[in-house]
Amino acid sequence: MFQFSSAVAAFAALVFFLCYCQWRRRCYKDPLFTEWPVLGMTPPLVYNLWRCHDQITEALQRQGGTGNFIGPRFTQMDSIMTCDPMNAHHIMSKNFANYGKGPAFRKIFDLFGDTLFTSDSDAWKRQRTFLHSLFVKSKRFEKLQEKIILRKVDSCLVPVLDHVVRHGADVDLQDVLSRFTFDVSCSLFLGSDPKSLAIDFPEIECETAFNKAEEFIFYRHIVPRRIEKLQRWLGIGLDKKIDEPFEAFDRFLRETIASRRAEISQEIETMKENDDYDMLTTLIMKGEEHVDDKQLRDNGFTFFIAGKGTITSALTWFFWLVATHPSVEAKILHEIKEENEVKNQVYLHAALCEAVRLYPPIPYVRRQAFKHDMLPSGHEVAPRNVIFLCLYAMGRSEEIWGKDFLEFKPERWISERGDIIHIPSYKFISFNAGPRTCLGKDISFIQMKMMATAILSNYQVHVVEDHPVSPTLSIVLLMKYGLKVRITKRG
Ligand code: HEM
Repeated sequence: MFQFSSAVAAFAALVFFLCYCQWRRRCYKDPLFTEWPVLGMTPPLVYNLWRCHDQITEALQRQGGTGNFIGPRFTQMDSIMTCDPMNAHHIMSKNFANYGKGPAFRKIFDLFGDTLFTSDSDAWKRQRTFLHSLFVKSKRFEKLQEKIILRKVDSCLVPVLDHVVRHGADVDLQDVLSRFTFDVSCSLFLGSDPKSLAIDFPEIECETAFNKAEEFIFYRHIVPRRIEKLQRWLGIGLDKKIDEPFEAFDRFLRETIASRRAEISQEIETMKENDDYDMLTTLIMKGEEHVDDKQLRDNGFTFFIAGKGTITSALTWFFWLVATHPSVEAKILHEIKEENEVKNQVYLHAALCEAVRLYPPIPYVRRQAFKHDMLPSGHEVAPRNVIFLCLYAMGRSEEIWGKDFLEFKPERWISERGDIIHIPSYKFISFNAGPRTCLGKDISFIQMKMMATAILSNYQVHVVEDHPVSPTLSIVLLMKYGLKVRITKRG
């Protein structure tokens, strides 16, 4: 009798469970926004992780731009995902004071220290004002960047690419660009060039560390904190692998800071006459600001997180798009012949905007609400709710870009008068919007245009046939298998 009633109870529980699943599926009417018992909406996301950016884009389009994502039970991973420009405007500008990075974000990025990137409120304002005055308003920094890039093109990029041409070998252009931007970032911010871009493609420990750190942070966004802690305790998982290379980068920064301090204390008087200094030297020489070693190290990190991967990503997708769109390439070459000054290269600027629209180097921006709020889309936000602004999905929104949103079409950025059309940042959001807009936007365009000009005017880039092109699962949208190309010299 007891066995029979247990079997009936088990059967009833199973029927109830299946009905519940079916009911939840009907409620959500979407493969991604479907809640599973205990696991929330994670199963379809994990199942399609290899194409998660496109999956999220398609699901948000079906949801009218915004959806509530429910994470596994007891993990506090529920969030709102949106690609609605009005929501973006509201969160990033109109009600800016109610949204910050929040404590959970700081935990995810704890490896990076207290940076402008992770801070909120007064701490953020102080750092932003300081860094803005130092390198956005300063023409000196822009000039230094131009000088470093020109030197690096002549001394490293051209010799390496000539070597590749001579040997007729395939090369991973993403790796070349990553090494180039790493060396430029080190020269610009730390005043020393690790020379990672060289004919023999040396393994540079801290450069590898940085790429791994970006993947690790993406993993932290999707793996519950408790599982991560368990993995760390068991000594398994990505967490363990990241420690060593990351410490190498940390050591590299700390050693550079210490040796620069020593140099400056010996030569301070003669150095004051010169103003051609990298960011680190400038910060140390502003001694009256009492910038301690930790602040210097954290600022160093800010620039590497912000600048290195983003420019590599933007240029990698740009070169792939240009190599696969010969008519765009011809127009860029025509412009480069007519116009040497990067600031006047309108078509090249438009092509770069188009590349970062379709492939935003930072595909998601995360914010946490401080107080209750209502989004323009009608979604309710509770205190501490996490919101993901899906930049990738916004770059592919028909509502913003029209029916041809998937086309790589620089012309959409150029007005009849021949200048760049201004598109509000809450629509073209690849550099973020509102008071936290990217501080490096202008210098990025200069760097990208200089590199694009240097490569395209001297070499023709052919993508290796059948090379698989897909994005990495990382906070920066790089190519998972690199960009394998064959390079020939232009006549
Ligand atoms: C194509 C290149 C770049 C793109 C697409 C880009 C994009 C972005 C985005 C989306 C954010 C917002 C991130 C967030 O709030 O979570 C951001 C912030 C930031 N970016 Fe960039 N970035 C680029 C290059 C650079 C460079 C070269 C630098 C400096 C060297 C830089 C400095 C910063 C800083 C300091 C912030 C933080 C601003 C703040 O929170 O107030 N970026 N960037």
